[in-house]
Parts: sequence; C-alpha cells; structure tokens
Amino acid sequence: MAPFRWEGAFFFALSRSLTMSPVAFVTGASSGLGRELARRLAGEGYAVALAARREERLRELAAAIEDAGGRALPCPCDVADRAQVHDAVARAEAELGPVDLLVANAGQSEMTEPHRLDAAEVERLMRVNFFGALYAVERVLPGMLERGRGHLVAVGSLAGYNGLPLTAAYSASKGALHNFFESLRIDLRGTGVDVTVITPGYVKTELTEKNLHTMPFLLELDEAVDRMMRAIRTRRRLASFPRPLSTLVWWAQVFPAALYDRIAARQDRRKAHGQD
Ligand SMILES: NC(=O)c1ccc[n+]([C@@H]2O[C@H](COP(=O)([O-])OP(=O)(O)OC[C@H]3O[C@@H](n4cnc5c(N)ncnc54)[C@H](OP(=O)(O)O)[C@@H]3O)[C@@H](O)[C@H]2O)c1
Repeated sequence: MAPFRWEGAFFFALSRSLTMSPVAFVTGASSGLGRELARRLAGEGYAVALAARREERLRELAAAIEDAGGRALPCPCDVADRAQVHDAVARAEAELGPVDLLVANAGQSEMTEPHRLDAAEVERLMRVNFFGALYAVERVLPGMLERGRGHLVAVGSLAGYNGLPLTAAYSASKGALHNFFESLRIDLRGTGVDVTVITPGYVKTELTEKNLHTMPFLLELDEAVDRMMRAIRTRRRLASFPRPLSTLVWWAQVFPAALYDRIAARQDRRKAHGQD
C-alpha cells in the first residue's frame, strides 16, 4: 500500500476549499421558510440539497436556482422515515459533497383536541417535527466531527417555550427540539461544529394559512428569512423573533401559572369561536 502523503491530503483539501461550494442540506424546502432559505443560501454560494416530500416542487426550485447560476439537488424524502432521510443525505453527499450546513426546518402544525386525544397522532407529529431533525443530525454529524467543522441549525418555534391551548403536540415537539439542540450545542463546544436554534413567532406561510386564531406580530416571509439568514451567517446560538412576542413568551415562563392560564385561555376562546 502506498504511504499516506500529508502534502497530497493538504493540497486536496486546499483545492476543494478553493473550487467547491459549501453544501447545505435543507429540509422542508418545498415551501415557506425552507424554500426561501434554500434560495437565499444558494445565492450566497452554497450548493443546496432540497429535502421534502413534494418532489415536483423541489424540482421547480432546483431549476430556478440553477437558472440563477446556483447549484441545487432535489432530495425527496419523508423526514419521518429514518432510512429515507439517511438515503437523501447520502445522495446529497455523493453528488454535491459533504454537508457543511444542516437546516432542520421541515415541520407540520396540527391542533391537539384533548377531548379526542389520539397518541398515534401525537407520535406522528413528533416523528416529523422532532425525530425528522434527529435523523438528519445523526447522519451528518459524524462527518462534521471528522472534518472538525460544520453547522447544525434547528428551526423551532416560540410555541415550543410554553404549552399553548390546543397545541399540545406541536408545543411538545418544538420544546423537545429546542432542548435536544441546546444540549448538542453545549456538548459540541470545541469540536468546530456550531449549533443554532431559531425560534420564530408567526410567519405568513402555508402552515399559518389555515389558522383561525389571532396571530400577533405576524411577519412577512422575507422579513423572517432575513433574520434567519443573519442567525445562520453569524452562527448565533439562539435567534428568537419578533422581539415583542419573544419577550412576552420568555416572561410567560415566570408568570404565576394561574395568570398564565388566564392569558393563554383567551387565545383558546378565540380559536373556539373561529375569530380572526
Ligand atoms: N410559519 C410560522 O408561523 C412558523 C412559526 C414558527 C416555526 N415555524 C416552523 O418553521 C418550519 C417551516 O414551516 P413553514 O411555516 O415554512 O411551513 P410550510 O410552508 O408548511 O413548510 C413546511 C415544510 O415542511 C415540509 N414537510 C412537512 N412534513 C414533512 C415530512 N414528513 N417530510 C419532509 N418534509 C416535510 C413540507 O414539505 P412537503 O409537504 O413537500 O413534504 C414543507 O416544505 C416548521 O418547522 C415550522 O414548525 C413556522
């Protein structure tokens, strides 16, 4: 066997860093925040792997990115399926190169009605919102650790800090996601792998289109993605926005429970009456 040549490895790494784009794997890239994040990342020089279930939409986005001079690869998968996520990352790495940035953004929001509680529905949502991110991290992290660099980004929600009315499963899934990534952030210090948790408030996307209740401080998509991109670029540990709502959410954690319930229940009644 030929002896290992450090100078060869050095020049290979140097030429790769000079000639190849960094690679981003973005889940939930077929609509809303993920789609716009993928487009912006491509504009900033990333080769982007686009993951979601609706393949046609991923193909359209990939074509638009390529037409604009970028590089994109549709990697259709259901993030609730561990093998599909692993295969999608393997495909991205084979065609684009090792993943430098993971944006675990895919998510769904559903009402949880306590009078018709169905654990199977809660499990299904957890599988998408929490395990979907975990499957992707599990697949990309070993390579990042080996290379001594990488960035893991979780798209959580301000709904993950407190239990909200009729949102038990969604709040729980996002809370689990925040805590999981927060632990990783501490454990990965000094490894070269950074972790960012982004917790947005309400943003105009397909996910919020169906909401009947009031959505205070609702953000336009572009506004939200501006903030998310800033957090990614600067490798912020935590980015919560918009400020008035995130401040309220943080205070709510130290409110006496009876006061919190009274305030939160008002939102519940509005939902029940289908008010806007
Ligand atoms: N909009 C808000 O107000 C808001 C606020 C806080 C946090 N968030 C979070 O932001 C993230 C993006 O949401 P959005 O507002 O942009 O909603 P969206 O427009 O509905 O996008 C959701 C994305 O997730 C993908 N997805 C859902 N289930 C999937 C599955 N099983 N496998 C693969 N992909 C799946 C969807 O793609 P396919 O359907 O094609 O699979 C879609 O691309 C979510 O995690 C959401 O919880 C949103």
